[in-house]
Amino acid sequence: FKGEKETLAFFCWQDQSFTTDGWLEPRKDRALGDWAKREAFAAKKGETLLLYPQDSEPAQRLLLVGLGPKKEFTLNALREAAATAFQTGKKRFFSLWATLPDAPSSTFHPEEMAQALAEGLWLASYQFTSYRKASSEEHSLILKKMGLVATGPQEAKSLEAPIRKAQIFAEATGNARDWVNIPPSEKNPGFMISLARKISGVTVRVFHESQLRKMGMGGILGVARGSTIAPAFLHLIYKPKGSPKKRLGLAGKGVLFDSGGLSLKPAAGMEDMKMDMAGAAAVLAVLKALPKLGVHKEVHGFIPLTYNMPGGDATKPGDVLKAFNGKTIEVLNTDAEGRLILADALSFACAQKLDGLVDIATLTGAALVAVGHLMTAAMTNNPELLKGLTAASEKAGEKIWELPLPPEYRESLKSHVADLRNVPKNHEAGTILGGMFLQEFVDQTPWVHLDIAGTAWTSEGSALCPPGATGAPVRTLLEYLLH
Ligand code: BES
Ligand code: ZN
Ligand code: ZN
Repeated sequence: FKGEKETLAFFCWQDQSFTTDGWLEPRKDRALGDWAKREAFAAKKGETLLLYPQDSEPAQRLLLVGLGPKKEFTLNALREAAATAFQTGKKRFFSLWATLPDAPSSTFHPEEMAQALAEGLWLASYQFTSYRKASSEEHSLILKKMGLVATGPQEAKSLEAPIRKAQIFAEATGNARDWVNIPPSEKNPGFMISLARKISGVTVRVFHESQLRKMGMGGILGVARGSTIAPAFLHLIYKPKGSPKKRLGLAGKGVLFDSGGLSLKPAAGMEDMKMDMAGAAAVLAVLKALPKLGVHKEVHGFIPLTYNMPGGDATKPGDVLKAFNGKTIEVLNTDAEGRLILADALSFACAQKLDGLVDIATLTGAALVAVGHLMTAAMTNNPELLKGLTAASEKAGEKIWELPLPPEYRESLKSHVADLRNVPKNHEAGTILGGMFLQEFVDQTPWVHLDIAGTAWTSEGSALCPPGATGAPVRTLLEYLLH
């Protein structure tokens, strides 16, 4: 940060008059505060004000960004404010330097605030441009340099680790966003396998169609029958240095495009269905980040990959499939395919005798109805595991809301010909019944099901994320695995 030519951002509290916190002498500080007041800047969330101090002190431009009231502060308020600062400056400033606001209470540590701030800047800069004309002006940024400014060498030192963590978290989120945003025909199982093989520090086992048949993975094979492209199943293993205390599994739904199969979706319902592998993308992105973070747990990724298409030999309503654990499933709606491939993935994962298992799936449209697009629906057989994930999700700014798995509803999954039917008899509680179906393929292993159908995708976009894939819940999982 060199002063004059630069832009310096200050994050401001709604219920407190403006101060540069020592960047300027008190007299100039007050003058700026009066100026902000005259401009009716109230420091509400999302509000910004640009000031040009006469003597370019402490910088040519000051960008004030509202954080909202101090007592309502969350790390995500800072993440969003940083993203707003980026959006304000991306086509106007060459550089943007952010000052770290004081922690509003002892529950917040400067390190995690620095991380949230840096994450906000990085996440906001995400673009998916590989399919655009290179010169497309709208997407060329002027802003080339960003950073946090410290008040002294000691603070500078303490900011290094959180900034590095923010970079890895944002990169992982960007990877997941990229993979979900890639057009569906281009991300066939072969492409996904090559992505996995490029990850360093992680062992990759690939099971192809013939092996899936030998293993009895009838769910994956049943869904893949409607497509001319063969399915695959990935088992990724990250082993930390030394002997790990915990071994955890992540299973991600990898439906590379969901047409609904013979129970075909209407055209509008299919538009965004390239996102039906967002669970798989999240698991891959997390595994790719683990070696960089030096996570101490052993982590396994389980990724079933297939298209769901209505081809000539597609699974038909009434067909019965047998999953890896031997349970049979009557398929009455081929659009409830995620649970079929996860039936195999979860029972395979449980055979690995892990200490915990989390599945991540764009499983039910009903999740969007139940908890909306800002919350992931969670179900569990182990409240302790979910508690840990929820705490991590608070820090990551990716909310989780628990739904129950009431045994009374089990009735609704009974079939006359098989052990289970893949869609409930009535149309109630779609998200819960998706979770209850999956539970049939989990043994005693502590397990959490995350239904990200509402959170993996944003049609509107926000300061933190352009329209399209969000990369949820990558940061939650990383935060959880790190602590
Ligand atoms: N991939 C969809 C769920 C989905 C819908 C995700 C909208 C994101 C946005 C899933 O495979 C599906 O089609 N589920 C059915 C289940 C039903 C047939 C029991 C659904 O939600 O309608
Ligand atoms: Zn479907
Ligand atoms: Zn699906």
